[in-house]
Amino acid sequence: PPDPAVEALQHADVAALLPRPVAESDKYRRGVVGIVAGSSRYPGAAVLAVSGALRGGAGAVRYVGPAADAVIARHPETLVSAGRPSKAGRVQAWAVGSGLGDDKDRLRDVLAADVPLLIDADGLRLADEAALRARTSPTVLTPHAGEAAALLGWEREDVEARRLTAARELAGRTGATVLLKGSTTVVADGGGSGGGSAEAAPVRINPTGTGWLATAGTGDVLAGLVGALLAAGLDGRDAASVGAYVHGMAGRFAPRPAGASDVAEALSTAWRDLLAG
Ligand code: APR
Ligand code: MG
Repeated sequence: PPDPAVEALQHADVAALLPRPVAESDKYRRGVVGIVAGSSRYPGAAVLAVSGALRGGAGAVRYVGPAADAVIARHPETLVSAGRPSKAGRVQAWAVGSGLGDDKDRLRDVLAADVPLLIDADGLRLADEAALRARTSPTVLTPHAGEAAALLGWEREDVEARRLTAARELAGRTGATVLLKGSTTVVADGGGSGGGSAEAAPVRINPTGTGWLATAGTGDVLAGLVGALLAAGLDGRDAASVGAYVHGMAGRFAPRPAGASDVAEALSTAWRDLLAG
């Protein structure tokens, strides 16, 4: 029998949740997303996260970090700065961590900010559980199996073998929404900031993924995309679910084989397909 605590994401539900501009929209209503990603070693991660955010419908994208030149060269519409996120102008959600290296100071700033936050990759390695549980705004974690294993103190194989349990366990421990990436992406909700609730919402399974997404940088695109959805006002669970679904569709619409930049570009095609009904 189907597990009542598990549900597959449905096309129509995702389409209904997709933010779409209305006549009165301005960039703030569409959402300003802040990206804290990339490093001198991995400048491309910053570019890809910004690509995901722009193609995720953001009203504006702010980039804070050392890869501003690379970001501007590819996306001149980005607002860039090299200082601290706490000094950046208005941001409605942050996406932090992709290719970040050991930039603990910038991570600390965004953890302390009282706006929705997505944490990926190096950010997951640097953030401690107490800081996550102390957050009062929605938090989304986007680990792959290896990153989830490190957070849980499990072996990677055990996460792969028990993906639903792993995602639920990590969500319960942190109170965050957990988007566990991989061949079957799942979204488990921790019941909000401050820790898990007694009655957790069903775990959502994304049916749109494809092995063609298994190429370096597609995770960075997803981080920016979900960040944009948080900035648009979706809650953590819906932003993660819609992001995973649209990202998987982009993997199907992108050329084959595709690089992560191609997947980011194909987000627009996926979006259009969903808007068309
Ligand atoms: N089927 C469907 N989707 C997949 C599959 C698959 N078989 N494999 C990967 N994906 C998707 C994931 O769900 C996720 O959305 O591709 C994306 C990959 O994201 P990450 O695992 O974060 O990879 P990324 O960071 O882009 O690049 C890989 O990260 O940890 C490092 O050592 C790793 O250098 C490597 C880099
Ligand atoms: Mg990654």
